This record gives sequence, C-alpha cells and structure tokens, in this order.
Amino acid sequence: MQNNIEHVYFHASQFPEQLAHEYETSFIQRRINHKFHYHTTHQSQQWLDLHQAYSPVQEGQGYQQAYQQCLHTALDALSHRTFDLISLGCGGGEKEVLLHNLLTQTQHAKQDVNKRPTMTSYYPVDVSPALAITAARKMRQQYPELPIQPIVCDLLHTDDLLSYIPGNNGARMITFFGMIPNFTPAAILPILNQFLSPGDLLLFSANLAPGKDYALGIQTVLPQYDNASTKGWLMSVLRDVGINTDDGDITVTVDTDTAEPTHNTQTSEKTALKKICAHFTIRRAVKLTINNKTIHWQPGERVQLFFSYRYTTPLVKHYLQQHGMQVLHSWEFNNQEEGLYLCQQAT
Ligand SMILES: C[S@@+](CC[C@H](N)C(=O)[O-])C[C@H]1O[C@@H](n2cnc3c(N)ncnc32)[C@H](O)[C@@H]1O
Repeated sequence: MQNNIEHVYFHASQFPEQLAHEYETSFIQRRINHKFHYHTTHQSQQWLDLHQAYSPVQEGQGYQQAYQQCLHTALDALSHRTFDLISLGCGGGEKEVLLHNLLTQTQHAKQDVNKRPTMTSYYPVDVSPALAITAARKMRQQYPELPIQPIVCDLLHTDDLLSYIPGNNGARMITFFGMIPNFTPAAILPILNQFLSPGDLLLFSANLAPGKDYALGIQTVLPQYDNASTKGWLMSVLRDVGINTDDGDITVTVDTDTAEPTHNTQTSEKTALKKICAHFTIRRAVKLTINNKTIHWQPGERVQLFFSYRYTTPLVKHYLQQHGMQVLHSWEFNNQEEGLYLCQQAT
C-alpha cells in the first residue's frame, strides 16, 4: 500500500444520487437522518472533538478497564481461531486499535500457538469517508502488515455488504461501539443479526440510564447533550442549508417510545425505551432550496435533529433476544452510564 493512496470501497448506499435523495427527504420530513451529522469533513472533525471532550472513555470511570476486560473476554472466546474484524460505524477506530494491542499482548503471553487467535483482516465501515479512512490509517500505522479495507456505506441499506467481504474460513468479530443509541432497535437489530453466523461474536456498547430509576437516570445525563458544543455540531447540518441560530432554537428533551405491540401490556410498558431528543423549533419562517425543490418551514414547527436511546442491561438483553441474539457477558462502568456487551447468535 502506498502512503498517498487509500483504496476505499464505496457502497451504493452512499452513492451521490442516494445521498441527494435522503438529504432532501430529511428536510421535507423534518427528521434529519443521523448520517448527515457526519457528512462533511468539518462535521466529522466537530464530532471527533466532541467525542474527545465528552466521551466517558476519557474519564476515570473504569472505562479503560471495562473495555480491556470485554475485549480480552472476546479474544479468549475466539480461542485459537483466525478472525476478521468488522467495525460497523468505526468512527476514529480507537477501540479497534486497542483490541489489536490486546491481541498482540495475548499472542506474546501465550506460549502455545494453538491457543492464540489471529486477526486476518480489518474492515472499518462508516458512512463518513473521512472517518473510515482515519480508522484505517490509525490501524495501519501500528500494524502495517494487516490487510485493511475501509468501506463507506450506510448500514441501514447494506443487505449485500457481506458479499464484498471475503470469508477467511474463520470467525467474524463485529464491533458496534457507540452506535445502538442512534437507531431504532427494530431497524438495526435485524441487520446486526445478519452479520452473525454461529461462532461469530458481536461486541457493542449501549448508553445506559444510571441508577435504579430509569427515568431519573436519564435526567442526570442530559447535560452531556444539552450543551453549546453538541448544539454547535447539530447546528452544522442546518447551517449548510443557510439556517442559523436566529431562525430557531435547539431544545433537548426525553421522549418515550410508544410501547411495542404485545398482548401483555405490563411487559410492553416495562420495555418501552426512552431516548434523548434534540429538536430545532422554528422561530421565524425559513425557505430552503434543496435539489431545486423549495421547502418552507413555519414558525412553531419542530425539526428532529437527533435522538439517542438510553438502555438498561435488562432492556439490552430483552431487545437482543427479540431479534435472535444473546448476551454472553456484560460490563457496566462505575458510573453506570455505559455498558459493554459480548453477544452471539442465539442458540
Ligand atoms: C457515535 S459514533 C461512534 C464511533 C466509534 N464506533 C466509537 O465508538 O468511537 C457513530 C459513528 O457512526 C457513523 N454512522 C452514523 N450513521 C451511520 C450509518 N447509517 N451507517 C454507518 N455508519 C454510520 C458515524 O459516521 C460515526 O462515525
């Protein structure tokens, strides 16, 4: 691989005509598709800065330790098998580099070659070309011999993605860190299940509501979203079409999903998920022109900019089980704001 060239797969879900359609739809339906918050280089950088400032991983809440335990357990579970690492929504790819560092330590520690797992390839997958390339380069800097193929695609439209990832006759380890909050479970969990065959592992993190009271716990984490830098990042998608802060206000609230349809009302109430939502409420009429279409937003209308589901570990288990997956091990951080889950296809 030459240092000045990066070979990137671009899936059709991120082709210009598809993006143009989804972009326009976001503004017409007044529901911004999350992927447009990572669309430009500026937005990717804003998000990386936010992540740096607010990610609990930076705090001393036992995060490093929990990630290390979780990644170690996953590597142990693989035993001596070879595996491909597929990072869905890789972002900057820091956690995957940590995984490889731990793998290298494990390999050095274990004398018996038959007990060591080996990573055969790494596929950082993201809607953002900037982030897919960043993750690929970060791994390559430390592990220049590892085959790495960055892929730009939208996970919500990737039924055929695995057909572009050649099998290695080993296992797959799928990482899905920091992703589950921004998708409705019904949309993303069947897709995650498609990536798993028997023996494959799924590692993911979920944002949790700390404490025993689900609703109260969510209130305690609201300031992580209700702040100037997060609003600045969310505002970027609007600024790009000529809307500015004088045109409306961003508010951050907690909403409850309508309970899943089930015959047992008690169960459905217990499993109804809550999410932190950011809306832009229009203060003065705006006229947008997108793809030659004119869109009018009137004062008082609300535009959904962002949502982030908050789970509890029992809720994670419930939703995974509903979609044919099971949690093998889980870890919660000291402040209970995040959980890590090692999962596989349900047996
Ligand atoms: C919160 S970040 C998590 C990044 C990384 N996994 C981590 O834990 O640091 C979400 C990532 O998902 C990507 N993303 C958002 N929507 C996506 C989609 N529909 N398909 C693929 N990637 C998506 C974003 O570009 C961003 O890199």
